[in-house]
Amino acid sequence: MNRVSFRPCTLQATLGKRRSISTNTARFALPPTILQILARNEVDEKVTVTGWVKSIRKQKRVAFGVLSDGSSPTGLQAVFHEDLGERVKQITNGTSICVRGSIVKSPGSGQDKELLVDEVEILGECDPETYPIQKKTLTPEYLRDYTHLRPRTGAIAAMVRLRSHLMRELNNYFANQGFTYAHTPILTSGDAEGGGEAFRIAPVSPLPSHEFFTHPAYLTVSHQLHLEALSHSLGRVYTLSPCFRAERGVTRRHLAEFWMFEAEWNVIPTTDPRAQTVALCDFVEGAIKGSVGESGIIHGEDVNALWQHREHDSSSEDDRAKAREAVVLAVTSNAAWPKISYSEAVRELLKSNIDWEFPVRWGSPLQTEHEKWLSETLVGGPLFVTDYPAAIKPFYMRANPAMEGEDETTVGCFDLLVPHAGELVGGSVREERLNKLKESMQSKGMDMDGERYGWYGDLRRFGGGPHVGFGLGFERLLGWVGGINNVRECVPMPRWAGKMDL
Ligand code: 4AD
Ligand code: MG
Repeated sequence: MNRVSFRPCTLQATLGKRRSISTNTARFALPPTILQILARNEVDEKVTVTGWVKSIRKQKRVAFGVLSDGSSPTGLQAVFHEDLGERVKQITNGTSICVRGSIVKSPGSGQDKELLVDEVEILGECDPETYPIQKKTLTPEYLRDYTHLRPRTGAIAAMVRLRSHLMRELNNYFANQGFTYAHTPILTSGDAEGGGEAFRIAPVSPLPSHEFFTHPAYLTVSHQLHLEALSHSLGRVYTLSPCFRAERGVTRRHLAEFWMFEAEWNVIPTTDPRAQTVALCDFVEGAIKGSVGESGIIHGEDVNALWQHREHDSSSEDDRAKAREAVVLAVTSNAAWPKISYSEAVRELLKSNIDWEFPVRWGSPLQTEHEKWLSETLVGGPLFVTDYPAAIKPFYMRANPAMEGEDETTVGCFDLLVPHAGELVGGSVREERLNKLKESMQSKGMDMDGERYGWYGDLRRFGGGPHVGFGLGFERLLGWVGGINNVRECVPMPRWAGKMDL
């Protein structure tokens, strides 16, 4: 009898065997970046680097420049000797140059290695009189008027690299959990959240008599509903995509265009529906701890550089150090992040005897001041608030069974609140029961059998099952991890009401 051997189905197996074309050959490789040069042990290595001069100190016979190519928060010290001639005189802060020379051990303090320059070529001059990115401390407000040039600052460059690292780690984490990265549309026919904050779009040259798509079209506010459709075939899916909201309030936590990490997946039914919400919170906690803490990002150079940028923040040095310590602890400790129900949160807020600007009442949404107190004062770290009243949450959340102390229906959902950044994640168990979904949609003035949402009903009609999902604000995650005060400094080119320069 033939013996059949089974191999576990690894990710590699589904991708197919790797072919052996070596992309490491010199022909395909780009020259090393400053990050790579600084990480190597070699000295007397000959290198050629292009980049921008961050600062230059000219002495009589020698000049010291700091060169950045954007790969690392640490620049490369370049030493220019007088025999390089007139050209060095032209170098100012912001000049783009190409230098060739040897990497040597640095006799000076502040860096291990430096570049002894043999040849220098000026690629692009930079007029020091009019260059907006001067060496002096620049405020975030000032830099927002120079969105195109502010990536030259250390803080914005570190933020952009951190976005890239976080995306990579989230991709790794979700791939390891068996998820597929799926692409969902930006143009949509409805407001997925029902919050009335969608942007409506139209062609620049309108058609004479009808809408381009025959019905109104919007920019998406969330990819959830389309991800739900995909999850009903692919199982575990996620996306990291732009979302658009015409937010009325201009706050430090809201953008008109932001990126959301959203995931949707099927779950095994439980006899206690509230346990599903608990498991969902646990998964989200694991995803954040895994991609930010375990991955090492939290101790990385870019995060260090971001926390050092004091201009983002008016708090004392001591408070800032404590705030950072709290974030590190939150993402690296094994201790579970606390979970409390909305009803318990309301009780705690009432017990606090604080004179809130917005009165606390069961059934009203939690306001920023309440969320801030819950995470910053009551808990001092991340906090899941679960099971909100159905009336203040979107139509798709699953109704909980009745419970003592709750007069009205609550839904299986959570908001993850973190100190400083506020609501970081929102998610829920989805209402998979056709009749309950219909009722919920009706109560919010939506028609499940109508033209607009009929397709969403189909997902329940044709092989629906219990599933859950969440959406994480990517800029808010960055702000929390990097100690960045305002989401406008968490995306390269921010857009908010009244501001879109380029
Ligand atoms: O809580 P929200 O509105 O949830 C949803 O849209 C769900 N459909 C997500 C899902 O379950 N797939 O948004 C999710 C997160 C918020 O917690 C917040 O972090 C972020 O998105 N967010 C914003 N970030 C920046 N600017 C804005 N205007 C934001 N609005 C929401
Ligand atoms: Mg929310």
